[in-house]
Amino acid sequence: MRRDVSIHGQWSSKLVFVLAATGSAVGLGNIWRFPYIVGEHGGGAFVLVYLGCILLIGLPIMMAEILLGRRGRQSPINTMSTLAREEGLSRSWGLLGWLGVVAGFIILSYYSVIAGWALSYVFRAGAGSFIGQDAGGAQAMFEGLVSDPERLLAWHTIFMVMTMLVVARGVRSGLEQAVRILMPALLLLLVLMVGYAMAEGHFMEGFRFMFQPDFGRLTGNSVLVAMGQAFFTLSLGMGAIMIYGSYLNSRASIAKTSATVVGADTAVAILAGLAIFPIVFASGLEPGQGPGLIFITLPIAFGQMPGGLLFGTVFFVLLIVAAWTSSISIMEPAVAYLVENRGLHRIGAAAVVAGVAWLLGIGTVLSFNHWSGYTLFDMTFFDVADYLTSNILLPLGGFLIAIFAGWRMTERSVMEELGIRQPLLFRTWYYLVRFVAPIGILLVFLRAIGLI
Ligand code: TRP
Repeated sequence: MRRDVSIHGQWSSKLVFVLAATGSAVGLGNIWRFPYIVGEHGGGAFVLVYLGCILLIGLPIMMAEILLGRRGRQSPINTMSTLAREEGLSRSWGLLGWLGVVAGFIILSYYSVIAGWALSYVFRAGAGSFIGQDAGGAQAMFEGLVSDPERLLAWHTIFMVMTMLVVARGVRSGLEQAVRILMPALLLLLVLMVGYAMAEGHFMEGFRFMFQPDFGRLTGNSVLVAMGQAFFTLSLGMGAIMIYGSYLNSRASIAKTSATVVGADTAVAILAGLAIFPIVFASGLEPGQGPGLIFITLPIAFGQMPGGLLFGTVFFVLLIVAAWTSSISIMEPAVAYLVENRGLHRIGAAAVVAGVAWLLGIGTVLSFNHWSGYTLFDMTFFDVADYLTSNILLPLGGFLIAIFAGWRMTERSVMEELGIRQPLLFRTWYYLVRFVAPIGILLVFLRAIGLI
């Protein structure tokens, strides 16, 4: 059975879907998370594994997630149980939707805290605080922010409210314009930053760090983190892309739209790396210093470049927009569920979800100051939230999505929904979803826990 529209509405065109999905994919994951974990895991080899995961696991699973969403046309929880029923399978597939909702709460909780850092940096940039900063000054400025729980909490609250407001209004209104104009602007500014890094930074050193693989530095855990980053950056494995797919009209090509989103997302991440690492090396900073990496390197660059006051302010504004269009997609699956099953209005549902995620976010706020000493396996609250979701829950969700689309649904249903006419293309995708992606995820898990 094919449902034509979701009760929550539909994108006004295919282009809007591409923009919204790109808005979801491109965010802090590309500009903040990608450079810092590349730095922590030694560069080149890690980037290569990451790109492999994007292409062989991320792209086929994105297509699978969109196709499930469009066929189910509901929140991921209801989509999974409806599709399972239609295919004559166990209703427990609905649990996959629940897994996504839990992951979504955890991701949203810390995503909002980090987006709060970016909010605070808009004002720092605009006030001229970056001017003349060297590595030590920029580091002290970052420390000053994260050591102050009150300020972190205030920014976290503001960002969570911003997300809640958009989701309460319905994902479509407002969002369309934002992505249409501001995402290209972000891309342009990133290109400009790479230009600056070429002119003033140690560009070749940064370039080699990112692309010259040294496999000796690649541990089993690094491979897991690279795969986790592929899931995180493409918004896969928790139903965000699934629910966006549920608002897509039945004729749009899932393959083409997915390829566009993946291409744009990868381009932004690579550009961010090329903008950051040359500055890292030119300023004598440590690439593996962790989550503060861009908040320390970018102010140095903006503080020295001509027009840096303007560019710096605009950059952090655009980074917030990118984070905003991502955080709304993290919130959407849980909100759609509350509307469908608990009879809540979108406004109430958004308030409930935002409230719970906000509370959980306090753990991340404190993990950078009062609770920095409380660790589990040497990880703070923030580290645990991030590791558990990106490296375990998202790949697990992706694995189950691949199994469902590749093995449990009939080939006929999958083919009908995907609508790929070229047999070779369909076969390739089907092979990736049935074998390469799930086996790849399994091998990475086994390698990370040291079994292979
Ligand atoms: N992909 C976004 C980023 O890179 C974050 C994001 C949005 C996300 N939706 C998601 C991550 C769903 C995991 C799951 O910033």
